[in-house]
Amino acid sequence: MQWWQITLIWFLCFYSISIFILSLRFPEKHLDWNKLDLDDLRFPKDFCWGVATASHQIEGNNHNNWSEFEKNNGLEESGIACDHWNRWNQDFELIKELGVGHYRFSIEWSRIQPTKDVWDDLIVKQYSEMVDDLISKGIEPMITLHHFSHPVWFQDEGGFEIEDNVSYWINFCEIIFNELSDRVKWWCTINEPAVFTTMGYVLGEFPPGARSFKKARSVSKNMMSAHAQCYRNLKKLPNGEDSNIGFVKNINIFDPYKRWNIFHWIQAKILDEMFNKCWLRGLKTGRFRAPSSIFSQKIDGLRGSADFIGVNYYTHLLTTPFMPTSVELEPLKRPWEIRTDFRYPMYAEGLRRSFEMVENLGVPIYVTENGVADKNDDFRPEHIRKHLWITSRAILDGFNVKGFFHWSLMDNFEWAEGYAQRFGLYHVNYETQKRTLKESGKLYSGIIKKNSMPQIVILAGGLGTRLGDLTEKIPKSLVKVNGKPIITHILNWAHGQGCRNALILTGHNGHKFKNFNHDKMSLTFNQEIEPLGTGGALFNSLDLLEDNFILLWGDDYHPIQYEKLVNQHFNSNSKLTMTVTESHKSMNLKHFEGRLINYDKTNPLEDFNGYEAGTSLVSKSIVEKYGKPGKWGWEQTIYSKISEDIFIHLDNTKFWDIGTPDRLSKLEDFFKEGGAR
Ligand code: GAL
Repeated sequence: MQWWQITLIWFLCFYSISIFILSLRFPEKHLDWNKLDLDDLRFPKDFCWGVATASHQIEGNNHNNWSEFEKNNGLEESGIACDHWNRWNQDFELIKELGVGHYRFSIEWSRIQPTKDVWDDLIVKQYSEMVDDLISKGIEPMITLHHFSHPVWFQDEGGFEIEDNVSYWINFCEIIFNELSDRVKWWCTINEPAVFTTMGYVLGEFPPGARSFKKARSVSKNMMSAHAQCYRNLKKLPNGEDSNIGFVKNINIFDPYKRWNIFHWIQAKILDEMFNKCWLRGLKTGRFRAPSSIFSQKIDGLRGSADFIGVNYYTHLLTTPFMPTSVELEPLKRPWEIRTDFRYPMYAEGLRRSFEMVENLGVPIYVTENGVADKNDDFRPEHIRKHLWITSRAILDGFNVKGFFHWSLMDNFEWAEGYAQRFGLYHVNYETQKRTLKESGKLYSGIIKKNSMPQIVILAGGLGTRLGDLTEKIPKSLVKVNGKPIITHILNWAHGQGCRNALILTGHNGHKFKNFNHDKMSLTFNQEIEPLGTGGALFNSLDLLEDNFILLWGDDYHPIQYEKLVNQHFNSNSKLTMTVTESHKSMNLKHFEGRLINYDKTNPLEDFNGYEAGTSLVSKSIVEKYGKPGKWGWEQTIYSKISEDIFIHLDNTKFWDIGTPDRLSKLEDFFKEGGAR
């Protein structure tokens, strides 16, 4: 054998072994979706379900770096966009109708500080009203402080290219945080800095349209530093410690197009490093090596500067050394993959790989964006189901994924792509500004409703007979325990269990609840014209009841884990599941093999073995079927009629009521000692 033959054999062996190891170490997973049950979704009941938008994409008539860029480059102009600045009220109704409990949106700096020396308080006021309105609807706001857009003056001064400019943005962040952090607990500093720098400074597709690695390096570094400063400064402000401040990273998965081709591998690894790894490593270690630079540098305060990591995931890209550098060209895809309207493929498996990539940051993961451009809503339903399946499976496998925000609430201005790309759950007719829920929107909403805590319904009309003066003027549920009405304690507990909406049946004394409010739950009150009793109150509220609801008593405090009760109810297909404690002084029912056998509140029998603890899960159909207009009692009527069809949920957690002054003072002591946790 000649020397070159030996060399060639050695080379081929080395090459094949390297490719083999690379393939094993970095598999490109593809699931056989036909074999999977996409309806098998399991999410914890306190999972955060949301939708996301960004100011420049929906508000309309913004004047910022983007509007200038659109004009100067002959792009489709954002113009009035979704006119959200004037229609936010109706749009928030749409969010509520979806059933999501969280909404991620951004604050438009250019509106608030249109020129360097003008600060518009009225605009801040509107954002503040928007926050209040969201909260009153039971929707928790998550604010992004920079989502691709900023004032023209800031850009004119060099934007994030210049290190000294960072302080302008920090100043804006601090003021906004001071205004809103008493109500807003979720903050994202900068949206996708890697996209901002690549698109704006390498590919030239975003403002300022530059193509310079040198500038891209400075912007990357300054944005990382801006993020770190923002995190550290906000944490020091009032409410800082209680706020969740995170970093939002777009994860792009890069896979070699030909898995036997080392050059494709090299390209994949370079892009992965530049686009994903260097940013995540920076966050973890505090040392950042900006894409295309040789050395890393320490950034003050960067290490561990995220309470959560926001993952924006859309696709994977198949790499070759000759990949298009213009987003208009079609990226490569696997033959079986769907090409989305944005030209890149749908690849849900990449979401799992994104979780794997961010996991070692050791902070909770939120999918802060995931969605698809699909004009006719042809494959969005499939997109949603697959990505939620991946998320649900990841949670079961132990990933700390806490929330999912669909991109986007409604069709909107898709940056350089203009209005052609439709990402919304609601279709927007840009001529009339009419929003219409798409099939995919219905699907998402249905999944959320199935996986969220049901509505709670509180029977709050009861007047205390044994509490003397205390309840002469107010219903029992408004009696203060440890400084707050008992109903507030009940709502606090329910909120902690993941509940967002409460229907409060105030009896005929509804006016007594006039100023009653809760800082986190969306409350609906229903007052009766004449006293109707507990059953009558429910029947009187049929239109306001959801298909299944958690029924509570306004004068009882019962800190149990709702999730177990809810799961049991749905898994057993029950119509009424009642919580029963076996460790109560007195008994008022008999249960056997998980069913109610007998119930008698006034004359308990010898063989009674449980006590109804007051938290039950009820299907509305029961109220429809057995209810009647007029005055009637819930327990006496319903329990006797369907007793054997009532499922028992055993839970011996202590149950508190304030029926007598003595019991009231015991509950008072309990709260003083810290209450339930
Ligand atoms: C993200 C961006 C969003 C939205 C989305 C869809 O990168 O944060 O604003 O445009 O992509 O392409």
